[in-house]
Amino acid sequence: MTQNTPRTTDDATWWRSAVVYQVYVRSFADANGDGIGDLRGITQRLPYLRDLGVDALWLTPFYTSPQIDGGYDVADYRDVDPIFGNLDDFDTMIGQAHSLGLRVIVDLVPNHTSSAHPWFTAALAAGPGSAERERYLFRDGRGADGELPPNDWESIFGGPAWTRVADGQWYLHLFDPAQPDLNWRHPEVRAEFEEILRFWLDRGVDGFRIDVAHGMIKEEGLPDVGFGMLIDGRRQSSMLGSGRLPYFDQDEVHDIYRAWRPILDSYPGGRMAVAEAWAETPQRLARYIGPDELQQAFSFDFLDATWEAGSFRKVIDTALAEATIVGAPTTWVLSNHDKQRHVTRYGDGEVGLRRARAAALLMLALPGCTYLYQGEELGLPEVLDLPDELRQDPSFLRTGESRDGCRVPLPWEGTEPPYGFGPAGCDKSWLPAPASWAQLSVAAQTGVAGSTLELYRSALRIRRAHPGLAGSDDPVRWLDAAPGVLAFSRRATPDAPELVCVVNISAAPAPVGGYGPVLLASAPPTEVDGEIALPVDAAAWFERE
Ligand code: BGC
Repeated sequence: MTQNTPRTTDDATWWRSAVVYQVYVRSFADANGDGIGDLRGITQRLPYLRDLGVDALWLTPFYTSPQIDGGYDVADYRDVDPIFGNLDDFDTMIGQAHSLGLRVIVDLVPNHTSSAHPWFTAALAAGPGSAERERYLFRDGRGADGELPPNDWESIFGGPAWTRVADGQWYLHLFDPAQPDLNWRHPEVRAEFEEILRFWLDRGVDGFRIDVAHGMIKEEGLPDVGFGMLIDGRRQSSMLGSGRLPYFDQDEVHDIYRAWRPILDSYPGGRMAVAEAWAETPQRLARYIGPDELQQAFSFDFLDATWEAGSFRKVIDTALAEATIVGAPTTWVLSNHDKQRHVTRYGDGEVGLRRARAAALLMLALPGCTYLYQGEELGLPEVLDLPDELRQDPSFLRTGESRDGCRVPLPWEGTEPPYGFGPAGCDKSWLPAPASWAQLSVAAQTGVAGSTLELYRSALRIRRAHPGLAGSDDPVRWLDAAPGVLAFSRRATPDAPELVCVVNISAAPAPVGGYGPVLLASAPPTEVDGEIALPVDAAAWFERE
């Protein structure tokens, strides 16, 4: 079983090849039996994460919040919401994580606060023209009586990005009306967040995931997008990552990160930040990374790749080329709390699971930092049939699209929902887990040869130990392969053994005779015409001298 060694504080580049496990706090483990995951639940389950073999945890927001958007609506950035515990629970959790060799990254939500944040309630009370309103983006409306929103911006959650308050002014919210956008040209806003960074760094966090990192600065004058809320019949938000919008990826946002980097660097042990940023081109995304800005930005192109060899090949080549330009390894991610789980994206059911297992071996063989989303190691699918009345995603009410199906609490053990999510005998969970998840629980898969959990454990163990996989910067060397088959090798030094990864996305078994002994396979290799072959929708790692 993999045992992480306790971290060394001088390993400042740990994040370059780390495997980070995303904990969606309200759905990971519930220690107090209220049906909602909490910090003490995480602490109890830390040995599971150590044994899985990950290097770090990323915790979604656990701060004081009305929970309108799953905690991405923060009312107090320096405290824990009572549903998740308190600051002592946080200190215990991080202390134990560190002693098990696990680092901890927390989510920072700087683009907007909650409407319950004292700054926003003060802004509402103080009225138009007040200093309090300056911390947010309040504007007069258009039309004869200011009855129209100040511009044509659309909320990511659907509908106008503006809400009118009682005195007639409007305020901007790129997400829910309960998430007013801050004015990042205000020095007090900047100073406050620098203090918030220090607050958590002082408590020992190893890094931050920066929410909506591309959104804090809006173009001066807040100009119209120009096409109304629909562009060529598509919602504005469908331009995320492919078109220019006056509220995203403005050059000035980089000043903020240039101010944050010295703060991160002033603490020992390689404190880092990863941007959740969407930009028009990979080149613009790369601008968030560098020695004077952030260490990483999520590359969502891998997640968006379709189940085709060409699609993966293109995304991988682009990401590796960008990494070379910026001098920092890329990040790989297949699922997170905002996206349909990849088992389902790849076809659901048996086919989806086969492909998801293969995709995991592909991802974990690539150089750089990998982010896993809780439950992918169990092969969990999206829960598609949640009753509407239980769905809590604010975008569901406005657009009919809901992210609840990837947020269902984890199944740990037992035969009945919620499968050990809470303490013994507790039958509560904030979203119901399906009956089929009994076979997918941690207990049901532990020690079972060929289970998805054991596949991930083996993959992470080999990734940690094999010289071909350990480095963050070794080149990927593509090997000749049949159409629809991806094959590449990695070798750290000329005399170290080579690791070959083959993924069969074609319609026929792929001969893999020449690659050496199999280290790990997502499906058992077969024999075709006396030669060893990799089945369709499978991946394998080989060791070649
Ligand atoms: C988070 C979402 C959240 C949104 C608003 C996203 O980047 O991942 O879960 O709804 O930001 O904070």
